[in-house]
Amino acid sequence: MRAIDENTITDAVLEQMSSTSDPRLKQVMSSLVKHLHAFAREVDLTPDEWLAGVRFLTEVGQKCTPFRQEFILLSDTLGMSSLVNALHDRRATESCTKSSLLGPFYRRDAPVMNLGEAIVSKSSAPQICVYGKVIDSSGRGIRNALVQVWEPDETGNYDLQKHDPSEMDLRGCFRTDSDGRYYFRAVCPLGYMIPMDGPVGDMIRAQGRHGYRPAHIHFLIGAPGHRELVTALYISGDDHIESDTVFGVTESLIATVKKNDFASPLPTLPSLHYDFQLAADSHELTSGRVGADPSQITKRVG
Ligand code: BEZ
Ligand code: FE
Repeated sequence: MRAIDENTITDAVLEQMSSTSDPRLKQVMSSLVKHLHAFAREVDLTPDEWLAGVRFLTEVGQKCTPFRQEFILLSDTLGMSSLVNALHDRRATESCTKSSLLGPFYRRDAPVMNLGEAIVSKSSAPQICVYGKVIDSSGRGIRNALVQVWEPDETGNYDLQKHDPSEMDLRGCFRTDSDGRYYFRAVCPLGYMIPMDGPVGDMIRAQGRHGYRPAHIHFLIGAPGHRELVTALYISGDDHIESDTVFGVTESLIATVKKNDFASPLPTLPSLHYDFQLAADSHELTSGRVGADPSQITKRVG
């Protein structure tokens, strides 16, 4: 009988898990156990601290509903979502726009709209025209690409955070035209604080972090034969562009709102211009979405 102590425990667990028949599950779980044990040894974790961690994760789970995904928020605030996005981007076989966070507020089944329509139904905030093209790796426009967009209102809240979250607002789906062009009207985005009324908010406060995201608009873009793109455009000049609480900003995703843009399809409005590049589909079995419509995550678990 092997003596179990702080050093032999890791091998004992790995040995028992070695019968895992799925090779990827075996690799992922073995590595997870090795790193988790190394972490406990490094900080000399006490029983009270481990129990506090278990309590924290329990509260994160209890905060999840079909309209709220606290685990995605935790993944985002720990930089894990951005890391997984970066690994996904590295696997692309052609040049393409960088990924950014899907976040906890994506919804399936947003209304399908015509090019030029406003995704805004209630807000009277100033509007902008968001436009550009969806192109392939050689710069050719991709026709009929599906462009899903979503943003918060001028108070920094998404429809999912409202009193009646079943009502959709500030989101829509567009199809690119025969040259790959898309354009729509949106409210000019403002920065906002991530939801701070749960255990992740407690963690952010305990760490002395500000909790803000810089102003942005989310995009999820797909076209047959191409890799789906999950990304966001960040508005230049925002106070928190260098210190996003969820690490979503990267230089190439920063865009500027311009006045008097005569190249815009709606030139009377300020404009935000960006061309999104999709790589060819490399027949990966996994999606690039670090997250999902919260109602779908709850459904899968239940
Ligand atoms: C968002 O941009 O919608 C978001 C992303 C991560 C955490 C909270 C919000
Ligand atoms: Fe957002």
